[in-house]
Amino acid sequence: MAKMEVKTSLLDNMIGVGDMVLLEPLNEETVINNLKKRFDHNEIYTYIGSVVISVNPYRSLPIYSPEKVEDYRNRNFYELSPHIFALSDEAYRSLRDQDKDQCILITGESGAGKTEASKLVMSYVAAVCGKGAEVNQVKEQLLQSNPVLEAFGNAKTVRNDNSSRFGKYMDIEFDFKGDPLGGVISNYLLEKSRVVKQPRGERNFHVFYQLLSGASEELLNKLKLERDFSRYNYLSLDSAKVNGVDDAANFRTVRNAMQIVGFMDHEVESVLEVVAAVLKLGNIEFKPESRVNGLDESKIKDKNELKEICELTGIDQSVLERAFSFRTVEAKQEKVSTTLNVAQAYYARDALAKNLYSRLFSWLVNRINESIKAQTKVRKKVMGVLDIYGFEIFEDNSFEQFIINYCNEKLQQIFIELTLKEEQEEYIREDIEWTHIEYFNNAIICDLIENNTNGILAMLDEECLRPGTVTDETFLEKLNQVCATHQHFESRMSKCSRFLNDTSLPHSCFRIQHYAGKVLYQVEGFVDKNNDLLYRDLSQAMWKAGHALIKSLFPEGNPAKINLKRPPTAGSQFKASVATLMKNLQTKNPNYIRCIKPNDKKAAHIFNEGLVCHQVRYLGLLENVRVRRAGYAFRQAYEPCLERYKMLCKQTWPHWKGPARAGVEVLFNELEIPVEEYSFGRSKIFIRNPRTLFKLEDLRKQRLEDLATLIQKIYRGWKCRTHFLLMRKSQIVIAAWYRRYAQQKRYQQIKSSTLVIQSYIRGWKARKILRELKHQKRCEEAATTIAAYWHGTQVRREYRKFFRANAGKKIYEFTLQRIVQNYFLEMKNKVPSLSPIDKNWPSRPYLFLDSAHKELKRIFHLWRCKKYRDQFTDQQKLIYEEKLEASELFKDKKALYPSSVGQPFQGPYLEINKNPKYKKLKDAIEEKIIIAEVVNKINRANGKSTSRIFLLTNNNLLLADQKSGQIKSEVPLVDVTKVSMSSQNDGFFAVHLKEGSEAASKGDFLFSSDHLIEMATKLYRTTLSQTKQKLNIEISDEFLVQFRQDKVCVKFIQGNQKNGSVPTCKRKNNRLLEVAVP
Ligand SMILES: Nc1ncnc2c1ncn2[C@@H]1O[C@H](COP(=O)(O)OP(=O)(O)O)[C@@H](O)[C@H]1O
Ligand SMILES: [Mg+2]
Repeated sequence: MAKMEVKTSLLDNMIGVGDMVLLEPLNEETVINNLKKRFDHNEIYTYIGSVVISVNPYRSLPIYSPEKVEDYRNRNFYELSPHIFALSDEAYRSLRDQDKDQCILITGESGAGKTEASKLVMSYVAAVCGKGAEVNQVKEQLLQSNPVLEAFGNAKTVRNDNSSRFGKYMDIEFDFKGDPLGGVISNYLLEKSRVVKQPRGERNFHVFYQLLSGASEELLNKLKLERDFSRYNYLSLDSAKVNGVDDAANFRTVRNAMQIVGFMDHEVESVLEVVAAVLKLGNIEFKPESRVNGLDESKIKDKNELKEICELTGIDQSVLERAFSFRTVEAKQEKVSTTLNVAQAYYARDALAKNLYSRLFSWLVNRINESIKAQTKVRKKVMGVLDIYGFEIFEDNSFEQFIINYCNEKLQQIFIELTLKEEQEEYIREDIEWTHIEYFNNAIICDLIENNTNGILAMLDEECLRPGTVTDETFLEKLNQVCATHQHFESRMSKCSRFLNDTSLPHSCFRIQHYAGKVLYQVEGFVDKNNDLLYRDLSQAMWKAGHALIKSLFPEGNPAKINLKRPPTAGSQFKASVATLMKNLQTKNPNYIRCIKPNDKKAAHIFNEGLVCHQVRYLGLLENVRVRRAGYAFRQAYEPCLERYKMLCKQTWPHWKGPARAGVEVLFNELEIPVEEYSFGRSKIFIRNPRTLFKLEDLRKQRLEDLATLIQKIYRGWKCRTHFLLMRKSQIVIAAWYRRYAQQKRYQQIKSSTLVIQSYIRGWKARKILRELKHQKRCEEAATTIAAYWHGTQVRREYRKFFRANAGKKIYEFTLQRIVQNYFLEMKNKVPSLSPIDKNWPSRPYLFLDSAHKELKRIFHLWRCKKYRDQFTDQQKLIYEEKLEASELFKDKKALYPSSVGQPFQGPYLEINKNPKYKKLKDAIEEKIIIAEVVNKINRANGKSTSRIFLLTNNNLLLADQKSGQIKSEVPLVDVTKVSMSSQNDGFFAVHLKEGSEAASKGDFLFSSDHLIEMATKLYRTTLSQTKQKLNIEISDEFLVQFRQDKVCVKFIQGNQKNGSVPTCKRKNNRLLEVAVP
């Protein structure tokens, strides 16, 4: 459904009048009452034409929500109730769509809500203009510049807890699509006197308190500060804390904002260092010291603070100290140094603090500008927002108020010029006759102040530059001479006798009749403040600072660029910047927000009529309404006008076909509105008197009620008829559906019964056919079978004679033969190598050849073994015979055997005939030596062993001393009956001798040898060949030996591994000898 367009107007649900142009009757009282009435109903905004009047509610109202932004977005100015968003929207749209640069001028006195208004305008524009990452960053930077500037430029005053102490003009730049590109901020005249002194109940700039409350201990230490406000002379004590303001939290907000705006960490640090230095400057105190020549000289009381400042700023302490005690005046190559007295020293200190802070502030503005500068060179559209201090009347008004009020005069001037100009231009554009109206033009006051020859500012400058003694009094005297005749200048001492007896006018003052009221200015301090003097010694000291930021703030301190010309005075600087601002504003389309402060207590719901009356008066609101109404009170384009009132006339209701203007003409004729009450412009109708408009509105209201009744009537009729029609239609639909349903059901019943009957009949028929077919098929199969058997017998009978018996057996044998033949032929090719140890043998091809295959393998092996043996020489044969003998004797019986297999049997290990030591031994033996080897003979008594040469000859066994070769015992082989040994892996053996033989007198021998297997084998063989008897070899782990008369049991036990493989013997008792084997 398309969104319903609700056409509303400012005139709907109006409290009082939303646009004061419509106020009837118009006088001061009705204006104030209207504002009050609206204020009491939370309507803080009221229009005078396109000017928005805003009354500070001093509490947050729910009228700035995102929904409200949406409401006001792209709506006509007069469509909704008055709101600052409507003005912002109007300005933004005419900037975007009509390419007109805009400026938004916000005026009003301190605390009236100017700064808040400027922020609201900016946030509205930010909310409705383009979106996207880049655009959002620009917006964020523009919005975040506010907290930074507010921290450094705002302070609590008696009028406002967050009073801007500087004027601000910000140009926001947009591209052709209306997306923000960047901005430029200009600042005007920071109230720097606040740095060193604040009036009662007021504070210094926020940043000092924020820094002390919000900085970490570490940061404070670094800046050489203490948290206690009372430590600092520049911070007045009576109102250091502001209700509802969290300085520490704000400090974090400011640092965060600085980061978003693009300040580098070191820049933030430098800024805070300067702030700290300013604070600490206030703590430097001086004491007088008399000098010989009678002059007073000042000395710094406590140099500690000075030292810390110097450390913080990188200034040479002696330089700064000197700058506080001397003043050097340079004139035409001449340098004169004079000492400063205590008062002058304090003056110098404060001047330095003020200058340092105000220059820091300007630097901040420039730095922010650098960040928010538009990055492109494309043509930009500009919306300027001016938030400048409002008109100020204090008890004591000084130079600052003079300057501020001058600025407000200029703004009023531009207001008058532009509104009237705009009004006049509109009449000309619309071709309406215009008669000039009278209003107070404040150009004359501006001239009094800014005239180049005899304006107050010019004269102040003249005084300041004049040689000779200059004081505020001489300045006043001069004023009295020059301005005496001016209508708006009042002074007791002037030549004009009007004020001679005016006691409200003190002697040291002058009074100006501003457009907004009379203001009495104290002349004291004018000259000084205008001079804004900072001794050159101080600026030079600052220029010498190691701190880059401070150095850059005092370029005039550079001795290379010394300039003897005085710097421009504060007054002339301000005048120039105001002139630039005015020029800038004149090129733009102005939008006005005039802020009004309802009470002096910063309290909600209080509307002090006296106070408002004063503001209404000096803001010239009444005149504003009058000017606006001088011609025509109300104007509206033809289309919306016709749209709003067309129901009042038959011809235009409900639709008018022709052009809108003709429609409005017809309408007004019909309503018989007197001709002098309105005029037709080119695109708008102009209504002279609000009464006429209200009459139209009343008629419209009446007519709307009639129309509402009419609409109601028609709607009700329509609703009943449509309801009836709907019911009838529904009834038909239901009936049709039901009939259809009933018929469907009946049809389905018949159909299913038919199907059942049908299927029964079909089934019966089919079964009958099936039976017949089955019978037929069986008959056919029987006939075929009989025929087949018959043919079979016939054929077999015919062919039997062709087959022979036993053919199968022949074929079988033949096949078998062929298989065996093939087997042998194949075996021939597959025979393995001739090596007897080759275990390979081809696999068997057929199971029935299994035994033949195995037999063949055995035969082949025997054959190749024989082949191998045939190659042996006699000697080799002997060796193998011996080895074979050993195998038969010991294999699988003695554990030592396997290790002997690989060792060749050498027999005579000891070569007796070659060794001269054994010559005697050799000579004693004539027979062939079969074994000559050193063995261990075991002592029968204690089991210890001694080495002996063991010799075996054909007939004897001999034992000889190893060293001397002397024969110890000789046993004929016939006397050897048995050799015993263990089954283990040891070389221990016993040689048993025949009982009663000569050799047996000492008993059987026990030996141990590494070559036990060889020895036993050779002994066996030799005995066999000599005695034809088999030597008994007993292998057992327990056997008996005969020692003389005793039978001793030799028992083998598992010993420890200590002696390696050598068995150790131990005679346990005379029945037991234990041999420990490994
Ligand atoms: N539209 C508003 N809604 C709520 N409070 C407001 C509004 N305008 C101003 N105020 C209150 O008034 C105080 C002073 O406003 P401010 O804009 O700082 O005054 P000015 O800049 O004119 O001196 C603000 O701190 C705020 O508390
Ligand atoms: Mg402000």
